[in-house]
Amino acid sequence: MADQKATNVTWHDHKVSREDRQKLMGHKSAVIWFTGLSACGKSTIANAVDYKLNQMGIHSYILDGDNIRMGLNKNLGFSADDRAENIRRIGEVSKLFTEAGVFVLTAFISPYRADRDACRALMKEGEFVEVLVDASIETCEKRDPKGLYKKARAGEIKNFTGISDPYEAPEKPELVLDSNTKGIDELANEVVAYLKAKSLIS
Ligand code: ADX
Repeated sequence: MADQKATNVTWHDHKVSREDRQKLMGHKSAVIWFTGLSACGKSTIANAVDYKLNQMGIHSYILDGDNIRMGLNKNLGFSADDRAENIRRIGEVSKLFTEAGVFVLTAFISPYRADRDACRALMKEGEFVEVLVDASIETCEKRDPKGLYKKARAGEIKNFTGISDPYEAPEKPELVLDSNTKGIDELANEVVAYLKAKSLIS
């Protein structure tokens, strides 16, 4: 994790609290943290949940691995250190979203347990919903929408998660989605049902 570099900085509390903002939104806020192998369905499921929440009048926003790596995190690669920094920044941005009263849906491989746990530690109890999108490496490799598994097998991509780099599945995720056998709509409904069951939305 990053050390504090700047000195002579002081924390400022804002006059409008997160509770004030949530009240204005008419709902709570939380991070729905999707994790899983490349091509397991994270982004597609996050999009489906985002759409359902939007239709319900709930404010939500997606932070997606590939997109964020073309902007905010364009200076980061796929070494363990760069992945840790990628996830650290996303955790901090997610926290800002929840403070603004918005549900944030993150779709990053986030392969390291310690990096995800550090993000969880930033959030309030119950406001970090870790969702394992469970698809076997065989399933993901068969899908291979970007042809990356093929390249990784051919040695053209180094440190590819699941092939030549580790993936540490969560030990106690709030939710496990079976992406091997179930469809996107069914899995998105499972997420919405979880949020309702926890009274995060109504
Ligand atoms: S993470 O490990 O730091 O969480 P992130 O989700 O941002 O990864 O980015 C993963 C995406 O980058 C994959 O879906 C894939 O499109 C692309 N990618 C390129 N190189 C790699 C690699 N070596 N390992 C995994 N994904 C890669």
